[in-house]
Amino acid sequence: MSETPNAIDAITAPVSSPGEKFFPKFEVTPELTAKAQELVALYPEGKEQSAVLPIIHHVQEEFGYVSPEAMPWIAEMCKSTPIHVAGIVTFYPGIHRKCPGKFHFRVCRTIACALAGGEELLPYICSKMGVDPAEMTDEEPMVVSPDGLWSLEAVECLANCGFGPNVMVNDTLHSQVTRGKIDEIMAACKKELAAERKEAAAAKKEAAAARKEAKAAAAAAEDTPEPVAEEPQKPAARKTPAKKAAPKKK
Ligand code: FES
Repeated sequence: MSETPNAIDAITAPVSSPGEKFFPKFEVTPELTAKAQELVALYPEGKEQSAVLPIIHHVQEEFGYVSPEAMPWIAEMCKSTPIHVAGIVTFYPGIHRKCPGKFHFRVCRTIACALAGGEELLPYICSKMGVDPAEMTDEEPMVVSPDGLWSLEAVECLANCGFGPNVMVNDTLHSQVTRGKIDEIMAACKKELAAERKEAAAAKKEAAAARKEAKAAAAAAEDTPEPVAEEPQKPAARKTPAKKAAPKKK
C-alpha cells in the first residue's frame, strides 16, 4: 500500500465521542516519552518496531484510545511509519480508535456465553445505558452513551467460557452475569464516580486554599517595611595624649 496522506487519513479519521470528557487529551509529555523509550529499550537495536504494540497499549491506558495524533508519534518513537501503526490499531479489536465511556462494558458474544444468556444481556445493557444497539456495527462496534459515562461493545471470547455469560467492565471480568448483576455493577460504577468527584472537589478546594494563603503571605511581605539599616558608627577619634611639658631648666 502506498503511504500517501489520503490512505492514512482514511484509516485514522478522528471519531468524536462523548467519553472524551473523562480522559485527558493526547499530549506528548516528558513522562510519556520516557515510558515509550523504556518500552523501546526492551527490544534489540534494529527491532524498535516491536515496541509499537506495547506503546499503543500504554497510550490507550493513559488516554482511553489511540487518537489520530498519537499514531505518528508512536511511529516516530519506534522508528516505524504512521501507516504501520494505523494497521496495528485497526487490526486488533481491543484497540480503540474512538474514546470509550468512563465505564466500558465488553459483552462476550461467542457461542458459550451467548447460549448462557449473553445475547439477552446486550439489549438490556443498551436500554440501561441509553444507547441504540443498531449503532453497533462491524465498522464501529462501540456505542457510547450521550453523557459519556458508559460504552458498550460486543466482543469475542473472554477466555472464561465455563462461567458465562461474561462481561468485562474496564479491567474487571464479571462471570455468570444476570440482569440483576448488571444493575449492581452499574450502581457500583456510579458510586465510584461519585467518590472520585468528591475527592477531586476536595483536592480543588485544598489547592484554592493553598493559593489564597500564598497570596496573603506575599501581600503581607509587601506591606512590611524594609528594616532600616543602621549607619555604622564612626570609630571615636583617638585622643592624642598631651605632650608633657619639658621640665624647666633651673
Ligand atoms: S465464550 Fe464467552 S468467555 Fe468464552
